[in-house]
Amino acid sequence: MTLYKAACMPGDGIGPEIIAEGRKVLDAAGEKFGFDIEWTDYDTGAEKYLKTGELITEDELKELSGYPAIYFGAIGDERVKPGILEKGILLSMRFYFDEYVNLRPVKLLKGVETPLANKKPEDIDFVVVRENTEDFYVGIGSRAKAGKQRDELSVMRELYSVKFGVDVETDADELAYQIGVLSRQGSKRVMDYAFSLAESRDKKVTSVDKANVLTDVYGLWREVFEETKKSYPDVATEYNFVDAVTMWFVKNPEWFDVLVTPNMFGDIITDLGAMIQGGLGLAPGGNINPKGTSMFEPIHGSAPKYRGKNVANPLATIWAGSLLLDTLGEKEAANAVVSSIEHSIEKKAVTRDMGGSMRTSDIGEWISKDILNG
Ligand code: IPM
Ligand code: MN
Repeated sequence: MTLYKAACMPGDGIGPEIIAEGRKVLDAAGEKFGFDIEWTDYDTGAEKYLKTGELITEDELKELSGYPAIYFGAIGDERVKPGILEKGILLSMRFYFDEYVNLRPVKLLKGVETPLANKKPEDIDFVVVRENTEDFYVGIGSRAKAGKQRDELSVMRELYSVKFGVDVETDADELAYQIGVLSRQGSKRVMDYAFSLAESRDKKVTSVDKANVLTDVYGLWREVFEETKKSYPDVATEYNFVDAVTMWFVKNPEWFDVLVTPNMFGDIITDLGAMIQGGLGLAPGGNINPKGTSMFEPIHGSAPKYRGKNVANPLATIWAGSLLLDTLGEKEAANAVVSSIEHSIEKKAVTRDMGGSMRTSDIGEWISKDILNG
């Protein structure tokens, strides 16, 4: 029996309820396919922050880097100012563990309704590979009032560090600026991941950018894409501007196989991707460092108004659990989890948001039984 150690961080709002269902399913998958996951729980989140002022400590991050995987629920709480938990916990982990791939499958499962007219499961089946450590997410910028000031801004990473000294002189009443950073290495590694993934799928990679306006950052992105594609002669390539890609997601999603995109565009287009695959309740994500600690989460938030009501849809979290198993190398178990999610949908064993009458806590049980009987 293989034993894996993994961390579990349920977080805020509906996080604990949906993660509990995911855990049931992963444990059942282990029972069926002959492995065991030993979970260590972390109470990171709003509650702890409000009590102690602590988000996530250096010691916790060090400890967590000993695990191949973290199963993450959601963060966000109406008592905490927007941005504090997101930056202090979620983005901290993405950057600390250098999880440079944000993997977001957009796949219409059998039995799920899409808002797109006349599109079927075979038409909506692609993967967005979102760069996850750079771009405007590096979080450096400042505000300035009329006059002069000097700002020292820096980004410190394992891959590289960079400092900007910015002299601001303005007669505007007030302004703000934000610096986005893309590096050659940072772009190259995520593109290599996307191309390798495409080699195991339909052999097409679409690069998404806005190189017609943001010519420096996305000009570098394109240059690296041109170079990278030479190593993958069997993979077809194309460029889409981000505005156009939102149109094609709606009109012709069947064109896509793997898309690779800088961080912020990836954030935006994957919410659209979530909608066309049936809504945020069905959209999983993996924050992946292929050689380190990866983190798996539903892409939706903590939905505080549904906290403790046992109504939240845990399918995105359970699907994220399948991505976790895939990363551990348990491919067969990972596929079985997705098949059983599909069965639950076909049998209408789903929560109210999907037209069923089941409670959150019934879903993990149903899917676990289906895996064990499958
Ligand atoms: C996501 C979320 C995060 C992001 C937020 C919560 C920081 O929207 O995972 O898509 O912007 O990446
Ligand atoms: Mn998002």
